[in-house]
Amino acid sequence: MRQTPPVRAQGLESRLSNTRGVPARWRSDLDCVLISQAQIARRVRSLAREIEGDYRTRDLVIVSLLNGTVMFLADLIRQVSIPLRLDFIGVSSYGAGTTSGELVFTKELRLDVKGRDVLIVDDILDTGRTLKRVIQRLRPLKPRRLRTCVLLDKTSRRIEKVNADYVGFAIPDVFVVGYGLDYAERYRNLPFVGVLSDRLYTSLTTPQ
Ligand code: XMP
Repeated sequence: MRQTPPVRAQGLESRLSNTRGVPARWRSDLDCVLISQAQIARRVRSLAREIEGDYRTRDLVIVSLLNGTVMFLADLIRQVSIPLRLDFIGVSSYGAGTTSGELVFTKELRLDVKGRDVLIVDDILDTGRTLKRVIQRLRPLKPRRLRTCVLLDKTSRRIEKVNADYVGFAIPDVFVVGYGLDYAERYRNLPFVGVLSDRLYTSLTTPQ
């Protein structure tokens, strides 16, 4: 597996101080656009090329985590032109918050993955708790190989010893929304990845 390094979301400091690039409708909610629609499209295309190359002769099953991966998954698999199967796993953390609390499985896998090459696709790798739990869930099902692909990787927040095999963008420790990622179920429909404003982030993390 030859991998291109994750693209670093650059120029964040200068972007944080102004809302240029943020559509007017979202200016009071977002600090900046961290990763533009064009940057995402480019990177997703190159991730798809890597995956295609690595799994050309394999029986690939993509297991996607609900709900944040919806846009990433749809864009990614349309660029991967090899046969594949697709299934979903639902994981959710109890209580509203920005960090993963107690994890519960809200949807189980339906496909048989025994002996097959499984690629888990997730939106963001943060502390690593979610991906670790999902890996623990899938391993006993005896896939031939289990790999992981995430759009975003907040490496500085890692608690668990888990890494992704395919990473779209390495990002700093900021709370991001858009392109499937939400804050209180909003902003998933934004076509870019933006940084949630301090005002909203603080209201989310500060107990009332
Ligand atoms: P862990 O900590 O388990 O986190 O690796 C993975 C899950 O936490 C959520 N998460 C975020 N959601 N913006 C979001 O919208 C963020 O910046 C963020 N950081 C973590 C997300 O659900 C992810 O699957």
